[in-house]
Amino acid sequence: MDPMLKKRVKGCYDLYPRSKESWQDPQIWSYVYETISKITKLYGFEELSTPSFEYTEVFTRSSGEESDIVSKEMYTFLDKKGRSLSLRPELTAPAIRAYIENGGMEEKVSKLFYKGPCYRYDRAQKGRYRQFNQFGIEVIGVKDPLIDVEVISMLIHFFEDLGIKKTTLLINSIGSPECRKKYSEELVSFLSSKKDQLSEDSKRRLETNPLRILDSKDENDKKIIVTAPNILDFINEDSKNHFEQVLKGLDEIGVSYKIDHKLVRGLDYYTDTVFELIREDDASAQNTLGGGGVYSGLVKALGGKDLPGIGFALGLERTIQYLLEENIEIPKAAPLKFYFIGLDEECRNNLLKPLDFVRKNDASAHLHEGISIKSALKKAAQKNAQYAIILGKDELTKGICKVKDLTLREEKSIPFKELESWLVSLTGSTLAMQS
Ligand code: HAM
Repeated sequence: MDPMLKKRVKGCYDLYPRSKESWQDPQIWSYVYETISKITKLYGFEELSTPSFEYTEVFTRSSGEESDIVSKEMYTFLDKKGRSLSLRPELTAPAIRAYIENGGMEEKVSKLFYKGPCYRYDRAQKGRYRQFNQFGIEVIGVKDPLIDVEVISMLIHFFEDLGIKKTTLLINSIGSPECRKKYSEELVSFLSSKKDQLSEDSKRRLETNPLRILDSKDENDKKIIVTAPNILDFINEDSKNHFEQVLKGLDEIGVSYKIDHKLVRGLDYYTDTVFELIREDDASAQNTLGGGGVYSGLVKALGGKDLPGIGFALGLERTIQYLLEENIEIPKAAPLKFYFIGLDEECRNNLLKPLDFVRKNDASAHLHEGISIKSALKKAAQKNAQYAIILGKDELTKGICKVKDLTLREEKSIPFKELESWLVSLTGSTLAMQS
């Protein structure tokens, strides 16, 4: 057989019950999805969902042709009609495209959230995948420092709700595009004099996207950047006021932060406030849990009105890996209520009706696949079942069945006719089994 058939694509992973890699266990993901559902309700966000691919322009016009994400990491292909499509590397641009297309601009403010896979052709390693999942939010229609505060505190609140308290919030303002242009010129002239000492990547960025040199992970680059001009000295009065109010609001609700004037983020659409949440004091490349910021020109760039927005997105793989590394206890899945065991085919057939009955009364139940009592009880224990209902030939002849409380290890026989009321007493249901 072709060996490729047995392998998943590099940089991808499966979620599978009891996976060897504990972060790939779907049960933990369910817990995180429940927390997403809870937090988005608390903050009044509505869900949107977009296709996995878009016309390529949606990303080139928003994230910037020179951003790494667009220039190096996008999965772009031509469809059968020769149109250029791309798998989404992120969800902000698709969310804005959908907002414009579905009449979002008619509302004063839209508060949207999304979750789903994104695709980036990046160097695959722990915490960095070619298909990964984001949860994110966007508030579109207004620019208000208090909304920045809410968005940032929601990001932190989400992690706290999961049990993750050890995070560090990095924050910066990159001002308006005009301020950034002036700053960029200053930065280029500062770095040009040191060009020979820069890494190859940074030399290239000096021409294409100089601001990105600020978050280079190269050790030599880092030493040079320490003395680089500070972007906060270049932002205009409006941006300064906005940033001050954001910081004041964060202070007000007790959110601690570190101002990091080198934080610029990897997508071109940001203006003013930008932020990242990292593992506590650990800014290595794979440890950014989530990030976001304000964007002023994005709605317009994608064909809408001149409306601002702000949002964040976080990576679920990194979140779950951190959750496990921090040994945070994850609530166990609800145990199975009833485990039905028939000791021959006729008995199994007789159990079909009560099995159907309990499920329709919202109690979980499983009919054992074989007819061996030993393996059935072993399986019931594995599934953490609460009660076993056992029917063998003997019982069938006598018109009874055995019911076993697997937690208390107590067993009794009850008339098969009374099984319904016994089940009802345990499910709290009044629905009668059809005769
Ligand atoms: P981003 O910083 O590119 O922002 O991605 C957000 C998060 O996605 C990262 O902090 C990281 O946790 C996760 N992530 C990114 N790439 C990978 C990867 N290859 N493997 C695993 N996880 C990854 C955005 O995407 C913006 N759209 C955020 C935003 C929303 N800004 C405004 N609104």
